[in-house]
Amino acid sequence: MHKYLFLLGRQSKLSIAELKAVVGVGKSFGEIYMIELADEIADPEKLQDMLGGTIKIAKVISEEKSLPAIQQKCVDYLDEHCEGKVIFSLSVYNFAHSLKKDLNNLLKNIKKALKSRERNARFINKLFENVRSVSIYEEKLCEKGSDMTIIKTPDGFLLAASVSVQNFRAYSIRDYDRPGRDAKSGMLPPKLAQMMINIGCGKNISVVYDPFCGSGTVLMEALLQGHQVIGSDISEKAVEDTKKNVEWIKEKFTHVGNSVIDVFQQDATTLERKDVTITPRTIVCETYLGPAISKFPSDQERINNFAEVEKIVVGAMGRLKTILNNNADLVFAVPFYKGRDKNYLIEGLDKKIKNLGYTLVNFDNADTERGSLLYYRDNQLVGREIFHFKIS
Ligand SMILES: C[S@@+](CC[C@H](N)C(=O)[O-])C[C@H]1O[C@@H](n2cnc3c(N)ncnc32)[C@H](O)[C@@H]1O
Repeated sequence: MHKYLFLLGRQSKLSIAELKAVVGVGKSFGEIYMIELADEIADPEKLQDMLGGTIKIAKVISEEKSLPAIQQKCVDYLDEHCEGKVIFSLSVYNFAHSLKKDLNNLLKNIKKALKSRERNARFINKLFENVRSVSIYEEKLCEKGSDMTIIKTPDGFLLAASVSVQNFRAYSIRDYDRPGRDAKSGMLPPKLAQMMINIGCGKNISVVYDPFCGSGTVLMEALLQGHQVIGSDISEKAVEDTKKNVEWIKEKFTHVGNSVIDVFQQDATTLERKDVTITPRTIVCETYLGPAISKFPSDQERINNFAEVEKIVVGAMGRLKTILNNNADLVFAVPFYKGRDKNYLIEGLDKKIKNLGYTLVNFDNADTERGSLLYYRDNQLVGREIFHFKIS
């Protein structure tokens, strides 16, 4: 068996749901999720590129009872695997509050031990803190095999060497350099789109349909992952933006090929079977999020905004039910308002969707009593509530 560590992104529950869907079930150690696999990961970079919720992947190379023993293994590994000057980094997870002191000692001791073996060595950690993924990426430490991770487990310590790290540049290019953008109606962060696609599609290649496609983030990410895509939106501008963006993705990433089935203008609440040429297998979307707000809405504004959203979401889900086959998965985001002391959700939305004949797939460790997960960024008033439904 091969043990791999996945360093989880900021929204760790979504990251874990994504890993369970496409890699396997594992164990949590704080910010790390460990999965045991029968086979080695054949192409870690490819897997990394499709996981929106994983910051880096590391392969476990040693397990020891004590910290000095794992430190020794780390020195041996770096000495054996690095050529020339040893440029390395080390991050520790699941340690007690003395983390900074432990890391400080480990970094100094490893460097000293390498020097005593006449190896010139330098670590790139700053201020004796866990190293940032951007630095690992820029220093190419995964290629050099010298970004190391130590985690504390109930039985001792694990040492792992990183095999891949998130390519932050590629995300930024897809987010900011695409030709069609619409900051006003909101754009899904590409990493969140990837997580939702993975949760909906699992290990299968699918036909993914986004009936609220906006400027096409879901379609772009689904194309990159090898799915066929269909998109529609009520707005003419959104359809134009999506068309431009998928063309751009096809030009930039030639492996995408001819997987765009259709992008068309359509109100999702009046959708009919004849509107889609191929029956989609997976629905992934961020629905209408309500009117843009610049200050926290009053109770009445919230009630009005949520009623408007609910009408569209329930209307669309009702129409989708008539075009989908049994076993279809639907992963979608609806808005919630993040108050100072509590979150305001669209009350009763889950029940109304269940009444249409859908089954709710509860996320493990859900953020809400109704089995959904919440995604938000600091300082944002509108967050996204993520649901997973199935037709069964
Ligand atoms: C939050 S945006 C989606 C953004 C998209 N996920 C992206 O990343 O670009 C919601 C979209 O829903 C569309 N919309 C609103 N009401 C709709 C309806 N009844 N049917 C279809 N689309 C609708 C809006 O035009 C808008 O583009």
